[in-house]
Amino acid sequence: MAVFKQLDNAAAVAEQLGCADADAAMQLLGDEATLLHGLTALGWAAAGDYAVVRVAPVLSRFICGHEAPIRSFLHGETPLRDIYCALIVHLGDEGFELDPEQLLVTLRPHERVCHERLLEQLRQLPLRDVVHFLGFGLARGEYEQELADYLVANGLAGEVRLYGCDPYVDFSGSGIEEWTPSAAGEQQFDLILARWVLHHLEPAFRWQAFTPVARHLAPGGCLLILEEGDFRAADERRFADQLMALVLSSIDVINTLTFVAEWHEKSAESADAYYLQHLSADEIAVIESGFGFPFERQIIETGPGVFGQTIFAYRRLSR
Ligand SMILES: C[S@@+](CC[C@H](N)C(=O)[O-])C[C@H]1O[C@@H](n2cnc3c(N)ncnc32)[C@H](O)[C@@H]1O
Repeated sequence: MAVFKQLDNAAAVAEQLGCADADAAMQLLGDEATLLHGLTALGWAAAGDYAVVRVAPVLSRFICGHEAPIRSFLHGETPLRDIYCALIVHLGDEGFELDPEQLLVTLRPHERVCHERLLEQLRQLPLRDVVHFLGFGLARGEYEQELADYLVANGLAGEVRLYGCDPYVDFSGSGIEEWTPSAAGEQQFDLILARWVLHHLEPAFRWQAFTPVARHLAPGGCLLILEEGDFRAADERRFADQLMALVLSSIDVINTLTFVAEWHEKSAESADAYYLQHLSADEIAVIESGFGFPFERQIIETGPGVFGQTIFAYRRLSR
């Protein structure tokens, strides 16, 4: 069973929070001060940070008010989906909102570390007059545009043509060309980026949605997947993995509600339409088996702290 040991952050979550088992976790997480300390110790933000100070009380109230299902989740019984859907509804009931600008201040250091690691990958791209760059699940594509500008400004490409594959976005007037694998013919991409997307695709469809896209990577091209989480195989799940999933999914829900508030009315219906499950090692293996070309893979961690992201960088070999 493939296990990416270097990505095993889950034990660190349990240790930092001082939780040895599900019962201890319930006691500690329900206490606002402990949760606040835990989120800081886990490397999310500095003590006194706006987002941590705002999030800790609402999360601890949520945990206290949903003790039975969360305890059951930590024991591996209730599915994660039940928990984050309940959190979305709870945030709506409390009228919880964060100021996106201030939340960005918290997230920016993590995001910039990822950004620097991604730029290192971009600098290794073979020089091309025209770079064909596909954003998979790119939303409005602002980040892809930033990378495209970087390529041109640094002489790594004469020109970048930007394509987008995201079924929930209307690209008209954006300068981004809509692309889907079914309509695509022989189009190949020198660069494909999927940033924070795959954990929002249901596992049963992840590779069906993604591998047909990855297959359009040009020889010598680079495919970058950026994900958060722990890539331990599902049948080895331990208490620490459950705790990790609880922490990461709560933060993911809060980020999404803050930055794309229009997608969520914090109701049961919108919770139902929201999907979140971090990738497992098995899924990475299945995704890779669908590429259909020889490749080199680098796994790049962007810590410190458990909120660090992981970058999977694939280079399609020319042979
Ligand atoms: C958390 S957002 C990340 C947005 C962007 N990549 C970024 O880094 O800011 C997840 C994105 O995945 C997109 N998405 C969801 N299902 C998808 C699918 N089947 N194919 C492509 N994109 C999808 C959503 O529309 C959304 O834009």
